Amino acid sequence: MTSLVQQPRFVALQEFKQREQAMSLSQRFAEDPERFSRFCFAFGSHMRVDLSRQHWSNEVLALLCELARDMKLAPAIEALFGDNRFNHTEGRAALHTALRMPAGASAVLDGVNVVPQVHAELARLRAFCERVHAGEWRGFGGQPITDVVNIGIGGSDLGPAMVVEALAPYLDRGIRAHFVSNMDAAQLASVLATVDPARTLFVVSSKTFTTDETMTNARAARAWLLAACGDETQVKKHFVAVSTNAAAVQEFGIDTEQMFEFWSWVGGRFSLWSAIGLPIALALGFERFEQLLAGAHEMDEHLRHTPFEQNVPVLLALLSIWNINVLGLTSEGIFPYSHHLKRFPAYLQQLNMESNGKGVNSLGEKVTHNTGPVVWGEVGTNGQHAFFQLLHQGSQVVPAEFIGFARSTYDYPEHHRKLLGNMLAQAQALAFGKNRTQVEAELAAEGLNTEAIARLAPSKVMDGNRPSTTMLCDELNPHNLGALIALYEHKTFVQGVLWNINSFDQWGVELGKKLAARLITDLADDGVTTRHDSATNGLLAQIKAWK
Ligand code: F6P
Repeated sequence: MTSLVQQPRFVALQEFKQREQAMSLSQRFAEDPERFSRFCFAFGSHMRVDLSRQHWSNEVLALLCELARDMKLAPAIEALFGDNRFNHTEGRAALHTALRMPAGASAVLDGVNVVPQVHAELARLRAFCERVHAGEWRGFGGQPITDVVNIGIGGSDLGPAMVVEALAPYLDRGIRAHFVSNMDAAQLASVLATVDPARTLFVVSSKTFTTDETMTNARAARAWLLAACGDETQVKKHFVAVSTNAAAVQEFGIDTEQMFEFWSWVGGRFSLWSAIGLPIALALGFERFEQLLAGAHEMDEHLRHTPFEQNVPVLLALLSIWNINVLGLTSEGIFPYSHHLKRFPAYLQQLNMESNGKGVNSLGEKVTHNTGPVVWGEVGTNGQHAFFQLLHQGSQVVPAEFIGFARSTYDYPEHHRKLLGNMLAQAQALAFGKNRTQVEAELAAEGLNTEAIARLAPSKVMDGNRPSTTMLCDELNPHNLGALIALYEHKTFVQGVLWNINSFDQWGVELGKKLAARLITDLADDGVTTRHDSATNGLLAQIKAWK
């Protein structure tokens, strides 16, 4: 396939660049009173995505949709629901959409409908959750489980950890969920210090079951448990596994009867809908997990059946192509105005940056255009008092994505009004700013003299004209969260199709793992190490001197 930048419609888009940049957001809104209604898109009856405060026009949007057609996006989307080999470097399909299909649906891979096996595993998960919730699954002292510790990292941690935090108001099953991912023992030690071994269940989650952080933490947890119960035969009451690698699970010492399975066609960062979501189902209840799946499935259907011009994930992806590849804006700030979404930016970082941080196309050729943006963020209003200064007046323009919820779960109406007021204000300030005349008038009203006004005014002018998107939902519930996550999954996928990259592998993380193995050996040896570059040798020497 011809690369994005050689596509005639991409070339045409570049010709729009100057014209679009010359028109400020203030002008756009002044000239078009219907701009909001034309650029605010609906997903079902619970979500609105306002793309009106972006530097684009109807013509640009239409051209982007044509570009997507030229780049065969429609068949690619269809392939996401069945036979595909999107992950060609690993010879794997990407079929996470099958994880949230209803029973009776069909997703055929290599001639086999995978939906029945998905539902068979869901049924096992449900039965297990019910046993834990009913107090039938008991620890070594005969007591019910009260704490679940998920041991996993990356996709085997971020999704469940983010969802459990996001849906904290729904934690009503008497189960506390904890997450241990880091190789820094500080995390494991601090979790173990707060739980009772007799009532704790460890979920060792790893697609490969070889990831060093997870295996190291799991072995340490096992030793801690054994030290407490003193009986090897009791350990199995406290460990279950989630993996695609039954042999490694068994080798670790977890019976495969206590293993929940998922499949090679589920990428780690797309896996929270599978058995990787076990901590979610345990902490929130299985029916809430099902609502999460249903929300994601609704977004899948929207992606599959909505014309590009109204298709929310497609539009978000096309907008990012416009911002990144035409306007040169290579960073995206994610700002959820919901404290429970505090892990959402970290989750999206893995989803998008591990998927689309790629430099070669599907033929293995170097790409000649930008691919995945730098994704970062923080919850509002906290971010406002930290780094929003740069968003408003800094020399770089960062497109901002605000996520807000009309209703709050908490009975603090004043807080919620202020929270939403702040979110709306940020998008407004970014777009429309404050010009020199307004600033001078304000300073004059404060009684400043002409000289002081002239000195201060430049620092107080806000140019505005900075793009943002606002996503608004009625409330943060399992269904809406499922849809929101799937929305970002599909945005990531569509970006990958247009960039013609493999969004489903992650070879870039392998070299560091290999080098770490050598360095860990060197750290275990007190002698002088000389086999590395001089910086590494020097730092090793210093660590050894100080340890
Ligand atoms: O190192 C990156 C990575 O492979 C991610 O893609 C993955 O989500 C994470 O590590 C954990 O992998 P696993 O589930 O196999 O332990």
